[in-house]
Amino acid sequence: MLYLKDRGHVHPLASEITPREVWRQRRTLIQGLAAGAATAAMPALAATTRPGKRDALPGARSAVPGAATMEAPTAYADVTSYNNFYEFGTDKADPAQRAQGLQTRPWTVVVDGLVKKPGRWDLDALLKLAPMEERVYRLRCVEGWSMVIPWVGYSLSELIRRVEPLGSARYVQFETLGDAKQMPGLRSNIIPWPYVEGLRMDEAMHPLALLAFGLYGEVLPPQNGAPLRLVVPWKYGFKSAKSLVAIRFVEQQPRSAWQRTAPQEYGFYANVNPTVDHPRWSQATERRIGDGLFAKRRPTQMFNGYEPQVGQLYAGLDLKTNY
Ligand code: MTE
Repeated sequence: MLYLKDRGHVHPLASEITPREVWRQRRTLIQGLAAGAATAAMPALAATTRPGKRDALPGARSAVPGAATMEAPTAYADVTSYNNFYEFGTDKADPAQRAQGLQTRPWTVVVDGLVKKPGRWDLDALLKLAPMEERVYRLRCVEGWSMVIPWVGYSLSELIRRVEPLGSARYVQFETLGDAKQMPGLRSNIIPWPYVEGLRMDEAMHPLALLAFGLYGEVLPPQNGAPLRLVVPWKYGFKSAKSLVAIRFVEQQPRSAWQRTAPQEYGFYANVNPTVDHPRWSQATERRIGDGLFAKRRPTQMFNGYEPQVGQLYAGLDLKTNY
Protein backbone atom coordinates (compact mmCIF):
# COMPACT_ATOMS: atom_id res chain seq x y z
CA MET A 1 0.00 0.00 0.00
CA LEU A 2 1.69 3.25 1.00
CA TYR A 3 4.51 1.30 2.56
CA LEU A 4 6.23 -0.90 0.08
CA LYS A 5 9.31 -2.23 1.69
CA ASP A 6 9.31 -5.89 2.74
CA ARG A 7 11.02 -5.06 6.00
CA GLY A 8 10.98 -7.50 8.84
CA HIS A 9 9.79 -10.58 6.97
CA VAL A 10 10.22 -13.44 9.43
CA HIS A 11 11.39 -16.55 7.68
CA PRO A 12 9.64 -19.78 8.66
CA LEU A 13 11.34 -22.59 10.48
CA ALA A 14 12.14 -25.40 8.04
CA SER A 15 10.16 -27.77 10.28
CA GLU A 16 7.05 -25.66 9.81
CA ILE A 17 6.90 -25.97 6.05
CA THR A 18 5.22 -28.96 4.52
CA PRO A 19 7.32 -29.91 1.50
CA ARG A 20 5.29 -29.57 -1.69
CA GLU A 21 5.54 -33.28 -2.57
CA VAL A 22 4.43 -34.43 0.88
CA TRP A 23 1.53 -32.01 0.68
CA ARG A 24 0.52 -33.29 -2.75
CA GLN A 25 0.67 -36.92 -1.63
CA ARG A 26 -1.45 -36.16 1.41
CA ARG A 27 -3.89 -34.24 -0.71
CA THR A 28 -4.26 -37.09 -3.22
CA LEU A 29 -4.72 -39.58 -0.39
CA ILE A 30 -7.27 -37.42 1.39
CA GLN A 31 -9.12 -36.69 -1.85
CA GLY A 32 -9.31 -40.42 -2.49
CA LEU A 33 -10.68 -41.00 0.98
CA ALA A 34 -13.06 -38.11 0.54
CA ALA A 35 -14.37 -39.48 -2.76
CA GLY A 36 -15.16 -42.75 -0.99
CA ALA A 37 -16.74 -40.92 1.90
CA ALA A 38 -18.88 -38.84 -0.43
CA THR A 39 -20.63 -41.93 -1.69
CA ALA A 40 -21.46 -42.70 1.92
CA ALA A 41 -23.01 -39.19 2.09
CA MET A 42 -20.41 -37.93 4.57
CA PRO A 43 -18.79 -34.51 4.29
CA ALA A 44 -15.45 -34.60 2.48
CA LEU A 45 -12.42 -34.02 4.67
CA ALA A 46 -10.41 -30.89 4.21
CA ALA A 47 -7.30 -31.23 2.11
CA THR A 48 -4.75 -29.63 4.39
CA THR A 49 -3.29 -30.71 7.69
CA ARG A 50 -3.53 -28.41 10.66
CA PRO A 51 -0.42 -26.96 12.26
CA GLY A 52 -1.81 -27.48 15.76
CA LYS A 53 -1.19 -23.93 16.96
CA ARG A 54 -4.81 -22.88 17.57
CA ASP A 55 -8.25 -24.41 18.11
CA ALA A 56 -9.37 -26.72 15.32
CA LEU A 57 -11.91 -25.42 12.84
CA PRO A 58 -12.26 -28.05 10.14
CA GLY A 59 -14.06 -27.40 6.89
CA ALA A 60 -15.40 -29.83 4.33
CA ARG A 61 -13.99 -29.50 0.84
CA SER A 62 -16.03 -26.82 -0.93
CA ALA A 63 -18.07 -27.63 -4.01
CA VAL A 64 -18.20 -23.97 -5.11
CA PRO A 65 -16.60 -23.67 -8.58
CA GLY A 66 -13.17 -22.04 -8.29
CA ALA A 67 -12.93 -22.69 -4.53
CA ALA A 68 -10.06 -25.15 -4.87
CA THR A 69 -6.72 -24.82 -6.60
CA MET A 70 -4.05 -27.46 -7.08
CA GLU A 71 -1.42 -24.83 -6.32
CA ALA A 72 0.37 -25.71 -3.08
CA PRO A 73 -0.67 -23.50 -0.16
CA THR A 74 1.84 -20.96 1.08
CA ALA A 75 3.57 -22.19 4.24
CA TYR A 76 1.55 -21.54 7.42
CA ALA A 77 4.54 -19.70 8.88
CA ASP A 78 4.51 -17.21 5.99
CA VAL A 79 0.72 -16.81 5.98
CA THR A 80 0.82 -15.90 9.67
CA SER A 81 3.98 -13.77 9.83
CA TYR A 82 3.85 -11.61 6.68
CA ASN A 83 0.70 -9.56 7.11
CA ASN A 84 -1.03 -6.29 6.39
CA PHE A 85 -3.12 -5.22 9.35
CA TYR A 86 -2.39 -1.52 9.80
CA GLU A 87 -4.29 -1.34 13.07
CA PHE A 88 -1.24 -3.11 14.51
CA GLY A 89 1.44 -1.24 12.54
CA THR A 90 2.66 -0.89 8.98
CA ASP A 91 5.55 -3.33 9.07
CA LYS A 92 4.76 -6.81 7.71
CA ALA A 93 5.97 -8.35 10.99
CA ASP A 94 3.98 -5.99 13.27
CA PRO A 95 0.61 -7.82 13.25
CA ALA A 96 2.08 -11.18 14.30
CA GLN A 97 4.03 -9.47 17.06
CA ARG A 98 1.42 -7.04 18.34
CA ALA A 99 -2.00 -8.63 17.71
CA GLN A 100 -1.72 -11.67 19.95
CA GLY A 101 -3.63 -10.00 22.82
CA LEU A 102 -6.63 -9.13 20.62
CA GLN A 103 -9.82 -10.03 22.54
CA THR A 104 -11.93 -12.08 20.16
CA ARG A 105 -14.57 -13.15 22.71
CA PRO A 106 -17.17 -11.98 23.38
CA TRP A 107 -17.53 -10.71 19.80
CA THR A 108 -20.60 -9.47 18.02
CA VAL A 109 -21.27 -8.27 14.49
CA VAL A 110 -24.00 -5.71 13.84
CA VAL A 111 -25.90 -6.43 10.64
CA ASP A 112 -28.20 -3.54 9.78
CA GLY A 113 -29.25 -0.92 7.26
CA LEU A 114 -31.62 -1.82 4.43
CA VAL A 115 -32.63 -5.29 5.63
CA LYS A 116 -35.85 -6.82 6.93
CA LYS A 117 -34.07 -8.49 9.82
CA PRO A 118 -31.43 -6.20 11.34
CA GLY A 119 -29.69 -7.46 14.43
CA ARG A 120 -26.58 -8.14 16.43
CA TRP A 121 -24.99 -11.53 15.76
CA ASP A 122 -22.95 -13.27 18.37
CA LEU A 123 -19.83 -15.02 17.10
CA ASP A 124 -21.14 -18.40 18.25
CA ALA A 125 -24.33 -17.92 16.25
CA LEU A 126 -22.27 -16.99 13.19
CA LEU A 127 -20.07 -20.05 13.63
CA LYS A 128 -23.18 -22.24 13.50
CA LEU A 129 -24.96 -20.41 10.72
CA ALA A 130 -23.78 -22.62 7.84
CA PRO A 131 -21.47 -25.62 7.36
CA MET A 132 -17.77 -24.69 7.34
CA GLU A 133 -15.97 -25.24 4.05
CA GLU A 134 -12.31 -25.19 3.10
CA ARG A 135 -11.59 -22.80 0.25
CA VAL A 136 -8.06 -22.69 -1.15
CA TYR A 137 -7.84 -19.17 -2.62
CA ARG A 138 -5.05 -17.13 -4.15
CA LEU A 139 -4.70 -13.80 -2.33
CA ARG A 140 -3.10 -11.06 -4.45
CA CYS A 141 -1.99 -7.94 -2.60
CA VAL A 142 -2.03 -4.62 -4.46
CA GLU A 143 1.65 -4.31 -3.49
CA GLY A 144 2.60 -7.07 -5.93
CA TRP A 145 2.89 -10.23 -3.83
CA SER A 146 0.58 -13.19 -3.53
CA MET A 147 -0.12 -16.25 -1.40
CA VAL A 148 -2.30 -19.36 -1.62
CA ILE A 149 -4.32 -19.77 1.57
CA PRO A 150 -6.63 -22.60 2.70
CA TRP A 151 -9.38 -20.57 4.37
CA VAL A 152 -12.24 -22.01 6.42
CA GLY A 153 -15.65 -20.37 6.30
CA TYR A 154 -18.81 -20.15 4.24
CA SER A 155 -20.21 -17.92 1.52
CA LEU A 156 -21.13 -14.44 2.72
CA SER A 157 -24.42 -14.97 0.85
CA GLU A 158 -25.48 -17.42 3.60
CA LEU A 159 -25.64 -14.54 6.08
CA ILE A 160 -27.05 -12.06 3.58
CA ARG A 161 -29.99 -14.33 2.72
CA ARG A 162 -30.93 -14.71 6.37
CA VAL A 163 -31.19 -10.97 7.01
CA GLU A 164 -33.39 -10.44 3.91
CA PRO A 165 -32.05 -7.28 2.22
CA LEU A 166 -34.61 -4.80 0.88
CA GLY A 167 -34.80 -4.07 -2.84
CA SER A 168 -33.19 -0.68 -2.17
CA ALA A 169 -29.98 -2.30 -0.79
CA ARG A 170 -27.43 -1.88 -3.60
CA TYR A 171 -24.16 -2.11 -1.68
CA VAL A 172 -22.76 -3.76 1.43
CA GLN A 173 -20.42 -1.85 3.72
CA PHE A 174 -17.99 -3.66 6.02
CA GLU A 175 -16.62 -2.03 9.13
CA THR A 176 -13.80 -3.54 11.16
CA LEU A 177 -12.73 -3.16 14.79
CA GLY A 178 -11.16 0.20 15.63
CA ASP A 179 -10.19 -0.08 19.29
CA ALA A 180 -7.31 2.18 20.22
CA LYS A 181 -6.85 0.34 23.51
CA GLN A 182 -5.99 -2.89 21.71
CA MET A 183 -4.65 -1.59 18.42
CA PRO A 184 -1.49 0.52 18.64
CA GLY A 185 -1.61 1.35 14.93
CA LEU A 186 -4.63 3.59 15.52
CA ARG A 187 -2.26 6.16 16.98
CA SER A 188 -1.09 6.94 13.47
CA ASN A 189 -3.63 8.53 11.14
CA ILE A 190 -2.31 6.82 8.03
CA ILE A 191 -5.90 5.89 7.10
CA PRO A 192 -9.18 7.16 8.59
CA TRP A 193 -10.18 4.53 11.18
CA PRO A 194 -12.07 2.33 11.39
CA TYR A 195 -11.08 0.38 8.27
CA VAL A 196 -14.09 0.34 5.97
CA GLU A 197 -14.64 -1.60 2.77
CA GLY A 198 -17.55 -2.22 0.44
CA LEU A 199 -18.95 -4.47 -2.25
CA ARG A 200 -21.75 -4.19 -4.77
CA MET A 201 -24.69 -6.40 -3.76
CA ASP A 202 -24.13 -8.90 -6.60
CA GLU A 203 -20.43 -9.17 -5.70
CA ALA A 204 -21.32 -9.81 -2.07
CA MET A 205 -23.81 -12.50 -3.13
CA HIS A 206 -21.28 -14.29 -5.36
CA PRO A 207 -20.59 -17.74 -3.85
CA LEU A 208 -16.80 -17.14 -3.93
CA ALA A 209 -17.12 -14.14 -1.55
CA LEU A 210 -16.21 -15.76 1.74
CA LEU A 211 -16.86 -15.03 5.39
CA ALA A 212 -13.74 -16.65 6.84
CA PHE A 213 -13.33 -17.83 10.44
CA GLY A 214 -10.22 -19.94 10.01
CA LEU A 215 -7.27 -21.01 7.94
CA TYR A 216 -5.29 -24.23 7.72
CA GLY A 217 -8.08 -26.06 9.62
CA GLU A 218 -7.83 -23.81 12.69
CA VAL A 219 -9.45 -20.61 13.93
CA LEU A 220 -7.97 -17.45 12.43
CA PRO A 221 -4.86 -16.12 14.12
CA PRO A 222 -5.38 -12.49 15.25
CA GLN A 223 -2.92 -11.19 12.67
CA ASN A 224 -5.05 -12.70 9.88
CA GLY A 225 -8.26 -11.00 11.05
CA ALA A 226 -9.69 -13.05 13.94
CA PRO A 227 -12.35 -13.88 14.72
CA LEU A 228 -13.93 -13.32 11.30
CA ARG A 229 -13.06 -11.51 8.10
CA LEU A 230 -14.05 -11.09 4.52
CA VAL A 231 -12.10 -12.82 1.70
CA VAL A 232 -12.84 -11.70 -1.86
CA PRO A 233 -10.36 -13.69 -3.93
CA TRP A 234 -10.74 -11.88 -7.27
CA LYS A 235 -9.95 -8.46 -5.78
CA TYR A 236 -6.77 -6.97 -4.36
CA GLY A 237 -6.23 -8.07 -0.77
CA PHE A 238 -7.22 -4.73 0.74
CA LYS A 239 -10.89 -5.47 -0.03
CA SER A 240 -10.72 -8.46 2.34
CA ALA A 241 -11.44 -6.58 5.56
CA LYS A 242 -10.28 -8.18 8.83
CA SER A 243 -11.91 -8.46 12.26
CA LEU A 244 -15.40 -7.42 11.14
CA VAL A 245 -17.74 -5.70 13.60
CA ALA A 246 -20.47 -4.33 11.30
CA ILE A 247 -22.07 -5.25 7.98
CA ARG A 248 -24.40 -2.56 6.63
CA PHE A 249 -26.74 -2.67 3.64
CA VAL A 250 -26.83 0.70 1.93
CA GLU A 251 -28.09 2.42 -1.19
CA GLN A 252 -25.04 4.55 -2.04
CA GLN A 253 -21.61 3.19 -2.92
CA PRO A 254 -19.59 3.20 0.33
CA ARG A 255 -16.27 5.07 0.38
CA SER A 256 -13.60 2.70 1.58
CA ALA A 257 -10.83 3.72 3.95
CA TRP A 258 -8.30 3.42 1.12
CA GLN A 259 -10.42 5.49 -1.26
CA ARG A 260 -10.51 8.24 1.35
CA THR A 261 -6.75 8.01 1.79
CA ALA A 262 -5.64 7.93 -1.86
CA PRO A 263 -8.58 7.85 -4.32
CA GLN A 264 -6.32 8.05 -7.38
CA GLU A 265 -4.56 4.84 -6.28
CA TYR A 266 -7.23 2.67 -4.68
CA GLY A 267 -10.62 2.45 -6.35
CA PHE A 268 -13.89 0.95 -5.17
CA TYR A 269 -13.70 -2.07 -7.48
CA ALA A 270 -10.06 -3.09 -6.91
CA ASN A 271 -10.40 -6.10 -9.20
CA VAL A 272 -7.05 -7.77 -9.82
CA ASN A 273 -6.17 -6.54 -13.31
CA PRO A 274 -2.76 -6.89 -14.97
CA THR A 275 -3.68 -4.28 -17.60
CA VAL A 276 -4.44 -1.48 -15.14
CA ASP A 277 -1.29 -0.45 -13.34
CA HIS A 278 -1.14 1.17 -9.96
CA PRO A 279 -0.07 4.79 -10.59
CA ARG A 280 3.28 4.04 -8.95
CA TRP A 281 4.02 0.51 -10.16
CA SER A 282 3.07 -2.18 -12.69
CA GLN A 283 0.49 -4.83 -11.84
CA ALA A 284 1.56 -7.14 -14.69
CA THR A 285 3.47 -9.58 -12.46
CA GLU A 286 3.51 -10.75 -8.87
CA ARG A 287 5.89 -12.39 -6.43
CA ARG A 288 4.51 -15.53 -4.78
CA ILE A 289 5.59 -15.55 -1.14
CA GLY A 290 7.67 -18.67 -0.54
CA ASP A 291 9.05 -18.82 -4.10
CA GLY A 292 12.33 -17.34 -2.88
CA LEU A 293 13.70 -13.88 -3.44
CA PHE A 294 15.40 -14.77 -6.73
CA ALA A 295 12.48 -16.66 -8.28
CA LYS A 296 10.92 -15.29 -11.44
CA ARG A 297 7.84 -13.18 -10.84
CA ARG A 298 4.59 -14.74 -12.06
CA PRO A 299 2.23 -13.08 -14.54
CA THR A 300 -0.77 -11.57 -12.74
CA GLN A 301 -4.00 -13.19 -13.85
CA MET A 302 -7.13 -11.21 -14.72
CA PHE A 303 -9.45 -11.25 -11.70
CA ASN A 304 -6.66 -13.18 -9.95
CA GLY A 305 -7.54 -16.25 -12.05
CA TYR A 306 -11.25 -16.19 -11.14
CA GLU A 307 -12.39 -14.69 -14.45
CA PRO A 308 -14.49 -17.76 -15.44
CA GLN A 309 -16.46 -17.39 -12.21
CA VAL A 310 -16.75 -13.60 -11.84
CA GLY A 311 -16.05 -12.04 -15.25
CA GLN A 312 -19.75 -11.68 -16.07
CA LEU A 313 -20.28 -9.42 -13.03
CA TYR A 314 -18.33 -6.71 -14.88
CA ALA A 315 -19.63 -7.14 -18.43
CA GLY A 316 -19.88 -3.71 -20.05
CA LEU A 317 -18.03 -1.94 -17.22
CA ASP A 318 -14.97 0.12 -18.16
CA LEU A 319 -12.35 -1.49 -15.91
CA LYS A 320 -9.88 1.36 -16.44
CA THR A 321 -12.27 3.96 -15.02
CA ASN A 322 -13.69 1.55 -12.47
CA TYR A 323 -10.35 0.39 -11.05
N1 MTE B 1 -8.22 -5.30 7.22
C1 MTE B 1 -7.99 -4.41 8.20
N2 MTE B 1 -8.92 -4.24 9.14
N3 MTE B 1 -6.84 -3.68 8.25
C2 MTE B 1 -5.87 -3.81 7.29
O1 MTE B 1 -4.84 -3.11 7.36
N4 MTE B 1 -5.16 -4.92 5.22
C3 MTE B 1 -5.67 -5.49 3.97
C4 MTE B 1 -6.56 -6.72 4.22
N5 MTE B 1 -7.50 -6.45 5.30
C5 MTE B 1 -6.08 -4.74 6.23
C6 MTE B 1 -7.27 -5.51 6.25
C7 MTE B 1 -4.60 -5.85 3.03
S1 MTE B 1 -3.79 -4.55 2.28
C8 MTE B 1 -4.30 -7.15 2.72
S2 MTE B 1 -3.19 -7.51 1.49
C9 MTE B 1 -4.91 -8.27 3.45
O2 MTE B 1 -5.76 -7.84 4.52
C10 MTE B 1 -3.82 -9.15 4.03
O3 MTE B 1 -4.37 -10.29 4.64
P1 MTE B 1 -3.40 -11.33 5.36
O4 MTE B 1 -2.49 -10.56 6.27
O5 MTE B 1 -4.29 -12.29 6.09
O6 MTE B 1 -2.63 -12.02 4.25
